[in-house]
Amino acid sequence: MGNLARLLKESWTLVEDQQDKVAGYFYARMFLSHPDLRDLFPVQMDVQRARLLNAIVTAVQTLEDPEVFDEYLKALGRDHRKFHVSPEHYDVVGGALIEAMRAFAGEQWSIEYDQAWADAYGVIAAKMLAGADADTNPPYWHAEVIAHERRSTDIATFTVAPMQPIDYRAGQYLSVEVPKYQPRMWRTYSPANAPRKDNTLDFHVRAIGAGWVSSALVRRLKPGDMVRLAAPMGSMTLDRRSTRDVVFVAGGTGLAPIKALVEELTRYNRTRWVHVFFGARNRDDLYDLAELNKLAARYPWLSLVPACSEDETFPGEQGLISEVVARYGPWSEHDFFVSGSGTMVKATLRTLAELQVPSMRIRYDTFN
Ligand SMILES: Cc1cc2nc3c(=O)[nH]c(=O)nc-3n(C[C@H](O)[C@H](O)[C@H](O)COP(=O)(O)OP(=O)(O)OC[C@H]3O[C@@H](n4cnc5c(N)ncnc54)[C@H](O)[C@@H]3O)c2cc1C
Ligand code: HEM
Repeated sequence: MGNLARLLKESWTLVEDQQDKVAGYFYARMFLSHPDLRDLFPVQMDVQRARLLNAIVTAVQTLEDPEVFDEYLKALGRDHRKFHVSPEHYDVVGGALIEAMRAFAGEQWSIEYDQAWADAYGVIAAKMLAGADADTNPPYWHAEVIAHERRSTDIATFTVAPMQPIDYRAGQYLSVEVPKYQPRMWRTYSPANAPRKDNTLDFHVRAIGAGWVSSALVRRLKPGDMVRLAAPMGSMTLDRRSTRDVVFVAGGTGLAPIKALVEELTRYNRTRWVHVFFGARNRDDLYDLAELNKLAARYPWLSLVPACSEDETFPGEQGLISEVVARYGPWSEHDFFVSGSGTMVKATLRTLAELQVPSMRIRYDTFN
């Protein structure tokens, strides 16, 4: 371990068990010295009070892996433009971070630690700023909601028309903000369609219990409302050179990116067999089954297996989707795409490992 990394890790251990207090002090310091910065953050900061602080600390501590980190930090810098962050804010945040740690570390804090954090933060900020500077895209796109449909108690689908085209690939996700209902809260959602000529995008959203943004998108959003979309990201995209057959495994609204990928395949695929496994707790949550059935009827290479884990009256497969996938196969020669909640993705990856599917053939996105 290099000297800088040692100093960073060593100093962090002095405050690690007081993270909440450090975070509180960090924000208070920042907002007191620069009250205008408060407007960049959501009104409600309880859900993710320590989000920014944790992110910076993780970034600083992982500095030793510049190869992986370079691209990530550039993308993060590009992405920060959606928060209205400008270059002069970086010094304020860096200063508040070091002050907060110094305040809680006690007597063992040293000038060497100050310098180590200032150096490491400086490198990261420079990379983020370079990423922001090099981006020719707008910080975000404005889009109008042109359709909204409730599909179940908790699930809605909606379509937006961006004012300017957004360049993304099927399977990627975007950040979404609904300024009218939850200003300054950005969450990621996956378009459920491959890019279209008219640039419209479909989204599938499930309202999470106390979730701020998902509840607004499902229960309040209506045609005519405006949303903001930012920074397409993610690598769960199709490899056009692959000739292998494909298996898609989706849980709940994890179907969104999978549907986009299937739609992309409908544009050029003639030779690859494609299997979609779509799982949910009950039949209401299989909210897009009718559409999927239409696609399967139209494209002979597409097969569909829906399953319910808590609905014994459902006349199809029963059980968790990870278990259902294992009932079919063999799958050792297929490309896999897995999308859904953390639990669902984890269970599916475990099953695929047991079935000896090489991990390099699996792409996945986890919703939480
Ligand atoms: C790459 C990616 C793509 C995504 N695509 C979609 C999509 O297409 N459709 C979709 O519906 N969602 C998608 N999500 C999830 C989405 O980004 C939000 O996390 C989700 O909508 C909850 O946001 P919220 O503001 O409503 O909840 P918050 O206010 O952020 O959280 C409220 C509480 O719920 C918990 N929580 C947050 N998310 C979940 C979750 N998924 N399951 C269980 N508990 C949770 C939090 O820990 C918190 O305690 C995606 C997430 C990722 C990372
Ligand atoms: C080393 C520098 C920084 C790093 C590593 C960093 C990292 C991050 C990360 C990973 C997130 C969560 C990503 C997301 O929600 O999309 C985040 C959120 C955020 N960052 Fe930064 N950031 C840095 C500097 C800054 C600066 C200088 C500002 C300006 C005030 C800023 C403002 C914000 C805001 C407003 C959020 C959203 C917070 C929320 O939703 O609660 N960040 N940051």
